[in-house]
Amino acid sequence: MFTKKTVRDIDVHGRTVLVRADYNVPQDKDGGIADDYRIQQSLPTLNYLLERGAKVVICSHLGRPKSDKDIQFSLFPVAKRLQQLLKRQVNFVPECVGPRAEKMVASLKPGDVALLENLRFHPEEEADDPEFGRQLAELADVFVQDGFGVVHRAHASTHAVTKHLPSVAGFLLEKEVDTITTVMHKPARPMMAVVGGAKIADKIDVLHTFIDIADFVAVGGAMANTFLLAKGIEVGDSLVDRNELPLAREILAKAAQKAKEKYFVFSLPNDVVVAPKIDKAAQTRIVDFNANVIAEIEAYPKRPAPRSGKVLAHEKILDIGPFSASFITGAMQLTNTVVWNGTMGVAEQAGLQGPVGPFAQGTELIIEALAGHMGHKPFSLVGGGDTVSYIRNRNLTGVFDHVSTGGGASLELMAGRKLPGVEALEHK
Ligand code: 3PG
Repeated sequence: MFTKKTVRDIDVHGRTVLVRADYNVPQDKDGGIADDYRIQQSLPTLNYLLERGAKVVICSHLGRPKSDKDIQFSLFPVAKRLQQLLKRQVNFVPECVGPRAEKMVASLKPGDVALLENLRFHPEEEADDPEFGRQLAELADVFVQDGFGVVHRAHASTHAVTKHLPSVAGFLLEKEVDTITTVMHKPARPMMAVVGGAKIADKIDVLHTFIDIADFVAVGGAMANTFLLAKGIEVGDSLVDRNELPLAREILAKAAQKAKEKYFVFSLPNDVVVAPKIDKAAQTRIVDFNANVIAEIEAYPKRPAPRSGKVLAHEKILDIGPFSASFITGAMQLTNTVVWNGTMGVAEQAGLQGPVGPFAQGTELIIEALAGHMGHKPFSLVGGGDTVSYIRNRNLTGVFDHVSTGGGASLELMAGRKLPGVEALEHK
């Protein structure tokens, strides 16, 4: 349940509303917008405010600029895209505080929209500087937080600004927090968590939480390599983080303990796709660690060659194998909730014939299962930058029940942490 005031609880007619959005969108090589999902998801709040005669001033960050000279992080391209999506003029303000910004904002009329330049062009933003927060607040009468992706940061535009204005949530923030907390507190069971990505340390809290609350946890992606190594399995030239081996052992021990106490499965890949390099034309093969599923078919029924069960020194694990993917997707047929964060392999590597490359097969099978193509469609909650951009590139966003706009923010919320940008808002 979302307990903060929202835009529904305030009168905005004729008032200047400062909306914090998260327009930290992926950029392509030329500085263009590679994906506008976050911009699209901000529209319901903006339209609601505009229809009620508010003067809307939007602020956001983009990237991690070192100074205001880092012009590739200007929000100007976002203003242009927002204008197309909103179907209204968006006035771009080349400053976010100071006399110029104040003058441009003062000239707005009800129903007008302005987007301020990147907040992080000022180091005071990330420092949660009280004076910078006050200057931002001076621009408006009301503050609306709708940048879900950034509310895990205590920055001036998520925290300091709220000290000076009535501060409420927008619809995106409300939907994200409501959906994620409901899934974590009252999931329709059985519940499965599928976790991928590179670093265990980035997801350690959420892994602990998933072991606590889920009935099935499946690990894939490069993170699985570190777990495999922790179990003594050779991983060749795969990406591993040796510093994380103690963390991996801690998680394995916790999972084993839970599996002793109740019905619970923690699954690591039993088979993997390996190749000498990340390349769409790379020669791939499947390694089955137990060497008891795969056999050299031509030689059947002889014992498989030893290398069938071993990643060679020059090989990299780049995806989960077909047996592991079938195990996970088969188990999904028994679940009612799936939380998915992190692709199962190097899914972003395009293939020879199109967007689906040789290391995306595990990820693709998971998408198939969550789309209901295998018979049953559990409730699906998807998050994480790499996973969401893969799904967006494949035009498959609509397949899932909730695709979060937040990376770090959704992980922290799932792990049960308080988010400073939400805490700062007024209670209902
Ligand atoms: C994100 O993309 O996760 C948010 O916009 C936050 O960005 P940050 O990690 O640079 O603070």
